[in-house]
Amino acid sequence: STVAELEGLLGGLDLKTPIPPFPSSDVLKSPLDICRSYLADILCSLVDCDPVVAYNSIQWPNNIFNGDLTVILPKLSPGANASELAFDLMKKFSEYECPLFLLPFPEGVHLRIMLMPHTLPRLLLPYINDRKGGYGSDVSLGLKDPSSPESGRKKVVVEFSSPNIAKDFEGKHLRSTILGAFVSNIYETMGWDVTKINYLGDWGKPIGLLGVGWEKFGSEEAFQADPVGHLLDVYHKVNELFIPELVASRKLRDEGGDPAEIEGQGLFAERNAFFKKMEDGDEEALALFKRVRDVNIDNFTKLYARLNISFDEYSGESQVSPDVMAEVEQMLKEKGVLEESGGAWIIDMKKHGGRAGVAIIRDRAGGSTYLLRDLAAVLERSRKFEFDKMIFVVAADHNVHFSRLFKILELLEMSDLAGKLQHVHFNEVSQMSEKLGPGHQPHEILDQCETAMLGVLEADEEKAALLGDPQEAATVVGMTALLAQELAARRANDHIFDISGMTSFKLSTGPELQYWYAKLCSILKTHPGQPDLSDEEFASLAEEEPANLLRVLAQYPDVTHAAFKSMEPSTIMTYLVSVIDQLSLCFEAEEVARVVEQQTIGEIEDVSGQDTSVSPGQAMLYEATRRVLENGMKLLGLTPATKV
Ligand code: ARG
Repeated sequence: STVAELEGLLGGLDLKTPIPPFPSSDVLKSPLDICRSYLADILCSLVDCDPVVAYNSIQWPNNIFNGDLTVILPKLSPGANASELAFDLMKKFSEYECPLFLLPFPEGVHLRIMLMPHTLPRLLLPYINDRKGGYGSDVSLGLKDPSSPESGRKKVVVEFSSPNIAKDFEGKHLRSTILGAFVSNIYETMGWDVTKINYLGDWGKPIGLLGVGWEKFGSEEAFQADPVGHLLDVYHKVNELFIPELVASRKLRDEGGDPAEIEGQGLFAERNAFFKKMEDGDEEALALFKRVRDVNIDNFTKLYARLNISFDEYSGESQVSPDVMAEVEQMLKEKGVLEESGGAWIIDMKKHGGRAGVAIIRDRAGGSTYLLRDLAAVLERSRKFEFDKMIFVVAADHNVHFSRLFKILELLEMSDLAGKLQHVHFNEVSQMSEKLGPGHQPHEILDQCETAMLGVLEADEEKAALLGDPQEAATVVGMTALLAQELAARRANDHIFDISGMTSFKLSTGPELQYWYAKLCSILKTHPGQPDLSDEEFASLAEEEPANLLRVLAQYPDVTHAAFKSMEPSTIMTYLVSVIDQLSLCFEAEEVARVVEQQTIGEIEDVSGQDTSVSPGQAMLYEATRRVLENGMKLLGLTPATKV
């Protein structure tokens, strides 16, 4: 669509002049950008400044009570006295008769701008109705050159979830799964070509230990009955035997001794030998490894499907090519970065301008390390996908690892490649494992959420009635509950895995979001919105509460852009909660109006009567609200439980 079409769409606004063009404004994507453009145009004629300066002085307060837009006066006119400037602007503004804005009001260095309540519905309702599922998305952002639509889409690789196949699926893996799906969704929404990779922890010493455990405790029968459960059981058993050896070796090392002797015997030696066999291509060891990997992938895939998440590729540490690893080592040697130390190959980070610490590339037995595999994996992926960007959605326990990884690429003179990589980290503390106990399987997490959700629905008939069949609703809403909990906290913040909290109908939970969405669907079923509203209907939406709701809806594209920059899904969650907040105020105001009206015309006995009271204007407002909620939920990976 074009700006001319947009202007046709907004014909009822009586804007007189065409939308002023500004390079950084995208009026086809954001209704607030239309307002920014007109405002900048007015400002630059009022203070006689550069149009771009005027445009850049306009900011977004992100809270309608601080205005819909705000002009930062020192940015508009550096050096001017802010209160004099504000006074002057207000005076001139009043002569300006622009149908978009009310008279602004000053507050410190801000000039607060409110949109004209009468204009809001004529601007927003056609706009959202026209954009539908595209409202809040920005396909042109993902183009290599946004000025020519043919220029091809940018490519991003998102690596997330990445659990370890020998060990428990932990809280940090759950959070990575959910955040990673969001990161993938928002890139897709912004027009990028997205490849989703699950980089399994399926190689290295822990798999060696599992192999040893299998020799001691493995049972074909138990494996057939519950493959993943049995393998976890085997791992925990052998690990319990191994821990004392590990503790002894760490202690000796801390005391300055050489743990080589401890590590040269017992389970230590057996574990290392098993891993060595795997690296040397021993058929028996690899056959066992392959079975373990296959049953785990199968199990994970089911888990992801219940969360409505999928991957394009299950890669993993085991899939990294030994040739590429050798290539990396060769380059490191040529650059003089790699050195030998006690039989191992290491990089002394401090010597090369990094932070303190030693990065091990190959261990004493000649085995590849986690870091070496990761370096080679980056190289392989950059060749395979030719990405413009690659994002690792991994817990903050990997902060040092990734900063080393990026630093080493720079040492290899691959700063270009390093610059395309981003670690989107998050606080991994969630207490999920503590609450589920050791040896839990991932699907048990989801089962517990669904069961708790069913209990809550059965106890709340009013809400359950709106959400449909309790059993089915518990499945969908239970997953929303879990996802919403993980998405509501900022990435850096602690959050607690709390099944009863997440499944309750409290404000800002997943179930509450689904409930309000269902409420709108149920109203719209009997009162579908019709786009052509009469002047009277438009006027009715200029009342305080509906106008405030429209002002919140106008922010959605700016909210998605903010979340795209920060990679914070909580930005979207918080926003959706503010939509619901304002929607509930609208319902309250309507309820009051209804009672007052009935009292005046003496029809008080009909209060509980049929709901014939949704006006065409309200229906359109609800439809726009439903649309924004739907777009936001989908972006977060939440599936609406109800339809119109
Ligand atoms: N498997 C690792 C863990 O569970 C996470 C993998 C992170 N990704 C990477 N490319 N190193 O902690």
